[in-house]
Amino acid sequence: MPTKKIKVIVTRKLPEPVETRLHELFDAELTEGDDRMTREQLADAMQRADVLVPTLGDRIDAGLLGQAGERLKLIANYGAGFDHIDVATALSRNIIVSNTPGVLSEDTADMAMALILAVPRRIKEGMALIQSGGWQGWEPTALMGHRIGGKRLGILGMGRIGQAVARRAGAFGLQIHYHNRRRLHAQTEEALEATFWESLDQMLARIDILSVSVPHTPSTFHLLNARRLKLMKPTAYVVNTSRGEVIDENALTRQLRAGELAGAGLDVFEHGHDINPRLAELENVLLLPHMGSATEEGRIDMGEKVIINIKTFADGHRPPDQVVPSML
Ligand code: DGY
Repeated sequence: MPTKKIKVIVTRKLPEPVETRLHELFDAELTEGDDRMTREQLADAMQRADVLVPTLGDRIDAGLLGQAGERLKLIANYGAGFDHIDVATALSRNIIVSNTPGVLSEDTADMAMALILAVPRRIKEGMALIQSGGWQGWEPTALMGHRIGGKRLGILGMGRIGQAVARRAGAFGLQIHYHNRRRLHAQTEEALEATFWESLDQMLARIDILSVSVPHTPSTFHLLNARRLKLMKPTAYVVNTSRGEVIDENALTRQLRAGELAGAGLDVFEHGHDINPRLAELENVLLLPHMGSATEEGRIDMGEKVIINIKTFADGHRPPDQVVPSML
């Protein structure tokens, strides 16, 4: 089909250069404003589109897929994570799903590193002191945090983002430990100076900072449950830039409040933007509104990936970033 005839419906506002290019290439229907589509609007879009471009927060479940029009053949997700899409059901209905891996790894790793530095060094509390007007000048014992260099960083999930975190952390003098479904090739492990732990439990008990970069799948849901969090040292910190569902947020909150963990830096939450208020009020917790990939460059690169996926598909080929069953 000539690409100009392909009906592409985009659910959220995207960066301007991405929208312009979508318009140039396809029969693109973009959204006015930036409100999340309701379920009814999503159902309507899935009836009319050849290609749907959803993003995080658009829950594309079996119910919606069951109502999709015959012409819907591709869901080209704007984002690397696809846990909001029922990919198995989509595939069973011959609807391909693609995502945008790779282009946001470095930006997300930068954010993880920022949290790894900021929480043990108490940046949030220092800023709050300045902003309150209460700072009286340098004091030998005020706002003492903990040294980063020499500490053990445990990386949970050593994919692209985990490895990008490891490269940064190595430069800060952290010792790199990791747990992953598959052990890295010896050469990669050596280059990162990373120690593999087959047992997540054993790694958790030994590290000083944990950085989470596993995707949310049925097998990683609450991977960090109360039992596992309790294995960590009371002096340890938790950083999460992946998906909130990987950590039992209530258990984490309880342990932080009980002083059984030293602090946390979280960019993602178990229930989206509905954050446990007992977590949010803690001083040793730095919370960000899911901004790991929020750079102008990264968000444009993500749009380019979406466009390549649609264009390749329209040309009769497999989209380069097709989500396949082994990824579920
Ligand atoms: C993604 O692409 O899934 C990221 O979480 C967005 O930052």
